[in-house]
Amino acid sequence: MTQRYCDYEGSDYQNVFWEEGGRAYEDRAERAALKHLLPTTGKRMLELGAGAGRLTNEFHMFDEVVLMDYSFTQMQQARARLGDAAGRYKFIAADVYSLPFAPGLFDAAQMVRVIHHLEEPHKAMAQIRAVLQPNSAFILEYANKQNLKAMLRYAFGKQDWSPYTLEQVEFVAMNFDFHPKSVKALLAEADFSVRNIRTVSHFRAGFLKRAIPTGLLVALDRLASTTGNLVQVTPSVFVRSDTGNNGATAPADQFFRCPACGSVAVTETESSVDCNADACGKQWPIKDGIYDFKTPVGG
Ligand SMILES: C[S@@+](CC[C@H](N)C(=O)[O-])C[C@H]1O[C@@H](n2cnc3c(N)ncnc32)[C@H](O)[C@@H]1O
Repeated sequence: MTQRYCDYEGSDYQNVFWEEGGRAYEDRAERAALKHLLPTTGKRMLELGAGAGRLTNEFHMFDEVVLMDYSFTQMQQARARLGDAAGRYKFIAADVYSLPFAPGLFDAAQMVRVIHHLEEPHKAMAQIRAVLQPNSAFILEYANKQNLKAMLRYAFGKQDWSPYTLEQVEFVAMNFDFHPKSVKALLAEADFSVRNIRTVSHFRAGFLKRAIPTGLLVALDRLASTTGNLVQVTPSVFVRSDTGNNGATAPADQFFRCPACGSVAVTETESSVDCNADACGKQWPIKDGIYDFKTPVGG
């Protein structure tokens, strides 16, 4: 299968969707879920599909935060918004289907509003699991196909796909909704154990957002989200999983691996990360403080 992508290169998503998009309620409800699910302390957090770093300030309990995104320009925007916080942040343009990190590099990862752009989520899950150490936390947000609005639309014949079946539905090109059971299966298949679930955006309706002050709506959302382990009928669901005792921890001198051949024999210079494997030898440029693992030098 040819890999398909939802390409955010050159997109003004952060401004258009969040800052000018009337989504203060969703933003705050998502942050509340993250706060509840995050560990209280940690060393190195990986933000997958971080975009312009909307949520990065929630990860203050980590010594280091590595932001990665398929779009180089999203990483440029994130760096411009966040700065490098005295070396606490790293910015990486790369593909979640072939991560450029040594196995067991991170003790936490999060992926919010990204799996709904992944046609082959099981491939991404295996990659994410491989870069996490034993006893790490992984917080995944997914768009839930079995949400109340979809169930009503289906019941009244306004929607042709069933919210109850397990397969992911591509409701717009490269935008997928997932069934809660299939997400649990995906996580289990990748050797994650689900620990806690928060349902989010219970009140995502224009008239409610207009009628009720945002702070109150977010407080109600937090209250309702406590039922997340029992029932998931919201458009957005946050799942905290752990890795258990299995897997590797990266040695202190390993950070990157070559995303083309998988070798951890790489050398970082001022301007590139170079693969030392004879059969590969790719050089991945570092441009404007951003590691570019999408396009090797000369290719
Ligand atoms: C809807 S935005 C979410 C950004 C951020 N997580 C947030 O919640 O504000 C989706 C992001 O996923 C990234 N993305 C999509 N496919 C990807 C892939 N295969 N690997 C890495 N990032 C990807 C896009 O470039 C985009 O920045």
